[in-house]
Amino acid sequence: MMTACEYRPGLDGVPATQSSISFVDGQNGILEYRGIHIEELAKHSTFLETSYLLIWGVLPTREELADFKHEVQTHRRLKYRIRDMMKCFPESGHPMDALQACAAALGLFYSRRALEDPAYIRAAVVRLLAKIPTMVAAFQLMRKGNDPIQPRDDLDYAANFLYMLTEQEPDPLAAQIFDVCLTLHAEHTINASTFSAMVTASTLTDPYAVVASAVGTLAGPLHGGANEEVILMLEEIGSVENVQPYLETCLERKSKIMGFGHRVYKVKDPRAIILQNLAEQLFEKFGRDHYYDIAIAMEKAVEEKLGHKGIYPNVDFYSGLVYRKLGIPTDLFTPVFAIARVAGWLAHWKEQLEANRIFRPTQIYTGDHNKPYIPIDERN
Ligand code: ACO
Repeated sequence: MMTACEYRPGLDGVPATQSSISFVDGQNGILEYRGIHIEELAKHSTFLETSYLLIWGVLPTREELADFKHEVQTHRRLKYRIRDMMKCFPESGHPMDALQACAAALGLFYSRRALEDPAYIRAAVVRLLAKIPTMVAAFQLMRKGNDPIQPRDDLDYAANFLYMLTEQEPDPLAAQIFDVCLTLHAEHTINASTFSAMVTASTLTDPYAVVASAVGTLAGPLHGGANEEVILMLEEIGSVENVQPYLETCLERKSKIMGFGHRVYKVKDPRAIILQNLAEQLFEKFGRDHYYDIAIAMEKAVEEKLGHKGIYPNVDFYSGLVYRKLGIPTDLFTPVFAIARVAGWLAHWKEQLEANRIFRPTQIYTGDHNKPYIPIDERN
């Protein structure tokens, strides 16, 4: 029986589904994918293995993983019509808009409404995981006036993306660290973009529309776009000495400090802890980034002022520093987030289909009733 429920802005604390994909304990800083701690996966797994785990619910055997990797590898190339479509995009446009358009355009090429067929599900998973990184890298090269380069079969998922993006084979440590970044960003319960994916999935539309709607949602500065904003903030702060005055100004203006705070975590996000460690490994090998000192000072200052409210660094605070060191341009940070989160969106798409009911929440109406229609000449 339905019970009356109160309105909670942002659906704060309102369960929107039952799910066995991931779990977050925000008080104790715990994140698990299919019951496995994120720290374990970051240490021992790879992004593609983790994607398999998220989507099919179990770790693959050696053979299953090899088959899955091979399938993804063979679908990495872009359709030439998508590449031609991308040529018409303005170079000054945001890469998230380009990615959203390209993800949706994939739906033009593949048949729809075979959602009950496991082979269709698998093909869509493979295509999206394979092609999204190629699209991001292609947009980057094309907006610089270059032709996109073909994926290289001898490089694994993360290394191949960095290669297609920078046109140089990456250092093995850089590629390995990037792969861990993808694993860390692959899934995070019912966040805004995943919810968006689930709502779209619940209409039984095609998976390319599901991913396109999630990409659009991830793009906003309160969600995936925050990693980009963090770097812009660190650039604006400019020096460790300016951290305190910058923070005071933010607090006076009641503006949000990017990369801090989370709806669920009330302690430091476990992914931020791992990312900070990865940043340090990169700095050790390739030289320290001046912005890292500003970031550390910022974390300390924010903790002193806002720690009592449970405001600590979230996943976006240190990811930008890692991406900068890997040579990824700032406005590609959110598309890189999308490359990883496709795994989580697809896991929720599949789970949604397994027990689907179209989303149709209610509202509390606050408008008027029975108002007269005033003819246009009588309005003032
Ligand atoms: N800086 C300063 N104060 C903050 C911050 C912040 N980054 N985040 C929350 N607060 C304060 C709010 O002002 C509010 O204080 P009050 O109770 O005195 O009014 C309190 O903490 C609760 O904040 P809400 O905005 O209600 O928290 P909500 O759960 O709605 O928002 C969000 C979470 C959007 C992540 C928020 O913390 C934020 O805007 N952070 C900055 C943007 C960011 O880093 N986003 C990335 C999130 S992670 C991700 O999406 C991948």
